[in-house]
Amino acid sequence: MKINIFGMAIICLLITACGGSDSGGGTAPTLPAPTPEPSDPENPPVAYNAVDSLKAHAEFPIGMEVSAADQERSIFTLTSQQSVLTYHFNELVAGLIMKMSYLHPQQDTFYFDDADALVDYALANNMRMHGHTTIWYWDSQIPEWIKSFEGDWNSMMHNHVYQIVNHFAGRVNSWDVVNEAVDYNWQTAQAGYRNDLFYQNMGASFIENAYVSAREGDPQAELYYNDFHLSYNNGKLDFIIAMLNDFIDRDIPIDGLGFQMHITMESPSREQMDAAFQKAAATGLKIKISELDIAINQRGPDYTGGVWYPEQVLTIALARQQKQRYKDVVASYLENVPPDQRGGITVWGLVDEETWMRAVANSDWEWPLLFNDDYTVKPAFYGFLEALTGQ
Ligand code: XIL
Repeated sequence: MKINIFGMAIICLLITACGGSDSGGGTAPTLPAPTPEPSDPENPPVAYNAVDSLKAHAEFPIGMEVSAADQERSIFTLTSQQSVLTYHFNELVAGLIMKMSYLHPQQDTFYFDDADALVDYALANNMRMHGHTTIWYWDSQIPEWIKSFEGDWNSMMHNHVYQIVNHFAGRVNSWDVVNEAVDYNWQTAQAGYRNDLFYQNMGASFIENAYVSAREGDPQAELYYNDFHLSYNNGKLDFIIAMLNDFIDRDIPIDGLGFQMHITMESPSREQMDAAFQKAAATGLKIKISELDIAINQRGPDYTGGVWYPEQVLTIALARQQKQRYKDVVASYLENVPPDQRGGITVWGLVDEETWMRAVANSDWEWPLLFNDDYTVKPAFYGFLEALTGQ
């Protein structure tokens, strides 16, 4: 199956998805290649297997987002990634190939071969598999047939979610059943349901129906609601928590809340993270950091300033600041989410070269992840590990 890369669209995704009406376009020019990443003697860039394994120091899943099938950085073609994955991680999630348009390309056709190969790989290597995602509003991920669908939306969406979750029953441990269904209007400071295709056709009921369908498809899988900006946008977090508490009160199946955490060097603050994790954990649900990356060059809370501040070199000073940010995120999670509610921490990409943030910025000047391109560890890696080991 051919994978579409939709780089430029991602810019719009982030800018609109991140709620900034003041973005002013935000498209950065194409910039020259970055200089090599620095070598910090205090955080030596040694090989991935010359340091402790992350997963060995966590009682909860440590996950990684991967490409698969015939994607450019598929773990099946760029096989050198596999030993890094199995050394440090015990959960995988697909960045693209388990989204709606891939798994359900035609009303009567589901396509599972590529996802099955990935799930089989995870299971064969003693990793958990997290499914992402049965419903997401993003235009290019909604199959064309759904966009023009005119029949009974309730039964159509039930079938969509049920068939997918049921196909992987017993093999995919957890699902982002619905992704990003809540919106926040920065002008009015109001959170509400996103006015997406599903909402337009079914109202808010599409969300709870999806969880009922997913539970029917696999009674054992843990069902998450997943969204962004939860670690600092109180209005959005409160709205989502109210929605999930209502599900709990009415016995709508829900097991967890995923904090994406595509964050920046400035935002959220440690205090904001602490408060958000505490509030979310008070629901009793599992809390997962589902898509962690920490951008160096996207500034402000949500990359919406319309101004780019390209750091052309990842200096040792910047890399150490990023290390501290990773350490804060992991430490905040450990401090504020009780052990039996920890759904895990997943990093959104292995090496800086593959980050989706480079497509967002249309620039190679971005280094948001834990590993250098040659699989040596960055200061950021030490920050993650030090927080896990309580240093
Ligand atoms: C992104 C992937 O990283 C890209 O490779 C893909 O082209 C588009 O989607 N929030 C989500 C993820 O829930 O699915 C998005 O992943 C990043 C934002």
